[in-house]
Amino acid sequence: MKGSADTTSAKRANTSVVKVLGIESSCDETAAAVVTEDGEVLSNVIASQIDVHAMYGGVVPELASRHHLRNLIPVLSQALEPVGGLSSIDAIAVTHGPGLVGALLVGVQAAKAIAWSLDLPLIGVSHLEGHLLSPFLHGEGWGPPVGFDFPFIALLASGGHTSLYEVRAADQMELIGQTRDDAAGEAYDKVAKMLGLGYPGGPVIDKLATKGDPQAIKLPRPLPKKTQLEFSFSGLKTAVSHYLNRHGIPQQESAVADVCASFQHVAVDQLVRKSIAACKVRDIARLVITGGVAANRGLRAAAADACAQEGIDFALPSFATCTDNAAMIGYAGALRLARGERSNLSLPAFSRDPGFRRGKVPASEAQDP
Ligand code: KG4
Ligand code: ZN
Repeated sequence: MKGSADTTSAKRANTSVVKVLGIESSCDETAAAVVTEDGEVLSNVIASQIDVHAMYGGVVPELASRHHLRNLIPVLSQALEPVGGLSSIDAIAVTHGPGLVGALLVGVQAAKAIAWSLDLPLIGVSHLEGHLLSPFLHGEGWGPPVGFDFPFIALLASGGHTSLYEVRAADQMELIGQTRDDAAGEAYDKVAKMLGLGYPGGPVIDKLATKGDPQAIKLPRPLPKKTQLEFSFSGLKTAVSHYLNRHGIPQQESAVADVCASFQHVAVDQLVRKSIAACKVRDIARLVITGGVAANRGLRAAAADACAQEGIDFALPSFATCTDNAAMIGYAGALRLARGERSNLSLPAFSRDPGFRRGKVPASEAQDP
């Protein structure tokens, strides 16, 4: 269990500051965090299930649910300990979608039980909304908050989503482009599987790419049209597969590194091109990258360079901020709470959110008026 229980800042935090307990169990991380309404992370604990799913090459939903059940209480205890336990908490925010429904239900039911038994406000939060607001998180190990305010363009690239949003305010997020097929993280995971590199694929491809030649293999550059705010990763993944079918799986590390570098070069180029295009189309010179793929070193460097060239302010969130965590859920919940929103005890879990896909941040379903 990974934990950064920041006791110093917990003690520092004024008791009158609103503190929200965030719970995240949408995929393969069981996470809990305590966050202030200003985005200061007071504690943050993540129990990763990577070892459980690695042998299957991807997340097995039933196993994920069972491990959330096993991990949630210890994770909650560890996250609450440095802030003085549940008595110091003002509200509970929980991811209620999108994600694996069985996995989500573990977090949602726990949040409901705590909220009901202590008569605390319950707030359902979209996992995507959490990622989009995560650049405002700060605290020890989290780096400073993003150096600018709304509006900004956000590239959200993870294992399940690759989308561009215009974020005008905490409750005004417009989906302006998304992938036609695979998500970027999914493509990383599939290419890693083809190369026998294990799961998750992103971090290992990222590491090997630094040792390879990005021009070694010619791969197609998807969707070249400049103003088209869409992504496609399926053709790129298939091109890697054809290459491996023709030449065999490379055995030498340098040859594996060349495949990784060539794939990453085209994947990152697409992510950066489309993000810059979104800033231009929407005339907003501020870009944030978030989601697990935003931890990619090649993407971080290429996006920083492109933004510098184009005169776009660029926010590079810390690694902890990019990957799944409960602090982003607690913070998004705190902002909803400040807007007077509450969910009731019939808050559902959902696998995909049609409202969010249409580009509007939906009020959590089953909100109290
Ligand atoms: O946001 P996240 O932690 O969980 C989801 O909501 O999906 O993203 C996980 C995804 C995985 O596909 C993983 O391979 C990818 O993010 N990822 C990376 C890197 N670190 C994680 N992809 C590329 N480079 C990385 N360094
Ligand atoms: Zn995520």
